[in-house]
Amino acid sequence: MGEILGLGITHYPPLAGRDENMSGILRGTLRDPAIPAELKNPANWPPLMQQEWGSDQGKTMAAEHRKTLLAGLDRIRAAIDDFQPDFVLIWGDDQYENFTEDIIPPFCILAYDTIQAQPWKLKAPGMPGGANVWSESEEFVSTIRGNREGAKFLASGLITEGFDVCYAYRPLHLQGVGHAFLNSVAYLDYYRKGFNHPVVCFSINCYGRRVITFRGGAARFGDTPPAEKLDPPSPSPQRCFDLGAATARVLKDGPYRVAVVASSSWSHAFLHDKAWRLHPDIESDRAFYEALLSGNYSKWRDTPLKDVEDSGQQEMLNWFCLAGAMSELKRTPSWSTFIESYVFNSNKCFAIFEHPGN
Ligand SMILES: [Fe+2]
Repeated sequence: MGEILGLGITHYPPLAGRDENMSGILRGTLRDPAIPAELKNPANWPPLMQQEWGSDQGKTMAAEHRKTLLAGLDRIRAAIDDFQPDFVLIWGDDQYENFTEDIIPPFCILAYDTIQAQPWKLKAPGMPGGANVWSESEEFVSTIRGNREGAKFLASGLITEGFDVCYAYRPLHLQGVGHAFLNSVAYLDYYRKGFNHPVVCFSINCYGRRVITFRGGAARFGDTPPAEKLDPPSPSPQRCFDLGAATARVLKDGPYRVAVVASSSWSHAFLHDKAWRLHPDIESDRAFYEALLSGNYSKWRDTPLKDVEDSGQQEMLNWFCLAGAMSELKRTPSWSTFIESYVFNSNKCFAIFEHPGN
């Protein structure tokens, strides 16, 4: 019988940069000429947003935000180390990195033996410019163990279950994997002591209608094409939820100990058009968090894709996979924390769903 540990984390790109650059995404939005000036004036922002911005464009509060995120990451890392998985399965988005114009798979399991990447050469969407927080050079190589057999086992099980997932044995457009996965491992090894757990990356097309049109990143309001020019949609929340449930069933009946990880922040300001891309949809994220705590998984499964898109929660499709898996296993978080932020682009959540008996 397989054993499963459920986890949720963030791969928030600005955490890889320095505190003075952490509000960089908002600073970019404030340069968008199509956003009305009065909305860009901090004096008109919600009080908490003003407080985070402070007198130094968020630098002081960035240090606090980093501390909180690292505390969550420490806890998740300890849970993985205690569990000693055969592999760590990460649901993450591909933001026009490995998958571009020639193919956009809705779901793809990257069944690699080893991942070798140069994360600072990638210039992935949202990654901060300038020095990274570790002062690693562009030549720095991150080597991550894979688990091809485990990945093949999962792909076979899902296809047999009726989920015709894609799989790949080597990268397409990248040497390595996208930043959702690289950042996850980099942050779980923030203190650079090493991360020896094998990783299987499970790529989800979270960006859907914006994956090619927006190159999986931010755009200015004036450059936003009309709806009919956008790409086809991502898989729906319901489909991701059901994929997670099927994943749990396959792994439960398999021979592996697996830590399944949803990797993403929640609502993203730069995708939240209702607030002029200035801050994330805090109310909507709160409602999802409440539902997660109480095990109200129908709230997750029944949410229409349009609501997710309107709230800038595209990357949460990774968490919909986790929610489906935990619903299947009838678990609620044994520990979790929800971190709100107006200025630092997104709300973040960390969660642990322990394997019974651990
Ligand atoms: Fe992402």
